Amino acid sequence: MRALPPIQSAAKLGLSASDLDRLMERAFGPGRFAKAASGLRDGARLAPALSQVAWCDQAGEAVGACLIWEVASSAGGPALLLGPIAVEPDLQGGGLGRALCGACTAAVDSAGAGTLVLVGDPGFFAPLGFAPVPAGQLRFDWPADPARTLWRPGSGQPPAGRLLWISQGRSGAATVK
Ligand SMILES: CC(C)(COP(=O)(O)OP(=O)(O)OC[C@H]1O[C@@H](n2cnc3c(N)ncnc32)[C@H](O)[C@@H]1OP(=O)(O)O)[C@@H](O)C(=O)NCCC(=O)NCCS
Repeated sequence: MRALPPIQSAAKLGLSASDLDRLMERAFGPGRFAKAASGLRDGARLAPALSQVAWCDQAGEAVGACLIWEVASSAGGPALLLGPIAVEPDLQGGGLGRALCGACTAAVDSAGAGTLVLVGDPGFFAPLGFAPVPAGQLRFDWPADPARTLWRPGSGQPPAGRLLWISQGRSGAATVK
């Protein structure tokens, strides 16, 4: 089995969300990631100290990433949204996705940063400690399958209400949008 590349936070590597778009495009297929996530993320607030990146020195680029965004839930205060998570196609199936998600949850836990939610495949995320949000408890401003709406019990208050993006103002101030 191949050794996994080292994982560090996007903050330590000095990478922004736009630096990681190329990797996401490769992992998700051309256009798919951009279609699903652009617009939603425009101006949204990445948490670079919590987002994790696998870096390959030989290739001189990121080969995996799991992003965390600062959001809020209307009834439950601050929250964090995990996703997307992506691994370079050649490296998929080798444990890197699990390691990236584990590095994110460890960073969130050690920062005591808040309730972690995501929309993703329960087959991948349930063994990593995520559970379904009770039906109807959390609403998104985009179509989100309730069966894929998950949170991490133990990471904060149960998420409730409407999920709100936080945008990064020009001054750096956070505003709920
Ligand atoms: C999903 C993804 C990040 C997983 O990364 P990976 O490095 O391939 O995953 P791992 O090798 O760490 O797999 C961990 C476990 O999850 C399982 N798994 C992997 N991808 C899965 C998926 N899409 N659905 C369900 N289970 C999955 C693996 O079989 C493995 O289980 P096992 O230990 O019982 O064998 C990666 O396949 C990827 O980038 N896919 C394309 C982008 C994508 O679909 N992202 C998810 C949506 S945000």
